[in-house]
Amino acid sequence: MVVVLAENHKVALKKRQREMPSFEEAITPEVFWYTDPAFFNFEKEAVFKKSWQFVGRVDQLLHKGDYFSGELLGLPYIVVKSEDEGLRAYYNICSHHASLIVDEESSGRKDCFQCPYHGWTYGLKGELNKIPGGGSLKGLSVKSLGLKEIPLKVKGPFIFLYFGNFKEKERDKDDFFPIELLDESIFKNMAFVGRFSYEIKCNWKVFVDNYLDGGYHIPWMHPGLSGQVNFDSYHTDVYENYSIQRCLSKGGDEKNFKKDSDLDFPERVGKSARYFWMYPNFMVNIYGQWIDTNWVRPIKENECIVYFDYFYRGKLNDDLKQKSLRASFKVQEEDTVICERVQKGLASGVYNPGPYVPKYEYPMFSFHQKLLSSYQR
Ligand code: FES
Ligand SMILES: [Fe+2]
Repeated sequence: MVVVLAENHKVALKKRQREMPSFEEAITPEVFWYTDPAFFNFEKEAVFKKSWQFVGRVDQLLHKGDYFSGELLGLPYIVVKSEDEGLRAYYNICSHHASLIVDEESSGRKDCFQCPYHGWTYGLKGELNKIPGGGSLKGLSVKSLGLKEIPLKVKGPFIFLYFGNFKEKERDKDDFFPIELLDESIFKNMAFVGRFSYEIKCNWKVFVDNYLDGGYHIPWMHPGLSGQVNFDSYHTDVYENYSIQRCLSKGGDEKNFKKDSDLDFPERVGKSARYFWMYPNFMVNIYGQWIDTNWVRPIKENECIVYFDYFYRGKLNDDLKQKSLRASFKVQEEDTVICERVQKGLASGVYNPGPYVPKYEYPMFSFHQKLLSSYQR
């Protein structure tokens, strides 16, 4: 797909790439990064087809034939546990006349994949093994008519796909996934609690920016959560393709609790929290007994869906579950509101990019620098 960027946008990108100001002097990206439909399409090619994309987890596909399907920026996919117990991914597109084979965003267990249109049937390894009315398959070049495979990688409990032109050397590139998350003990006994999704009227990067502001917005936007977090301990490590924000909670230190706040509570947050972000759009949050993942799926230049998957380690009683989820939903709602307000400001046509606040916003700056280098390539 060839995307034509507006001439003034190209010039602005080149200028930013050429000048590369220091963090202290830099200003946030030009508004068109967040509002221009052509730029959104450009990012599909430059960012999303040039990075490993989270799509799901290994525990969703435990038995032979288990599958789930999904869609990213117009790319429909199926991930399946194949005959040889290996995980494979294919485009969910029939080789005959291009129909989607299984429903989008479905899951289940199958012996084979049969297209609903004319019944072409594919095995779990993607091979075409039946063409109704097509006579014997012998002699036909059916090999080239199999499902188109998508490179797949498993890191920890997570499954990633690579939608772009895949060079084998990408296979060995693991630096998109935090080494710290390869520690299996983190995910041991992790039980899925539920998925909650938020359709947010903002560019996908507005949500990521908000996540990467080094905790700057927490006291302002999250009165409940901020009662639990010890801000003096807030610290971020930035790596080439991911960053980790860490903080201690006020847990255990009675005098620090916000007594008047029933919005959040120490048991949920535990002693400390770690927030892992992986370029460009996947987060893993670990706090107390909880793990949640945030997957930011871009839809349009001013719209994304964020999927929150919750997991609990150990035993969870129903009371604590409901109370914790309520507190967490509150935080999500607060973030949703502010992201939509930001998008409105960006789209107003009267906003000029502002500075980063050095004390906090380095992770966001490094995200923007990383994007800039992806755009360059
Ligand atoms: S499009 Fe799938 S069988 Fe015809
Ligand atoms: Fe937030």
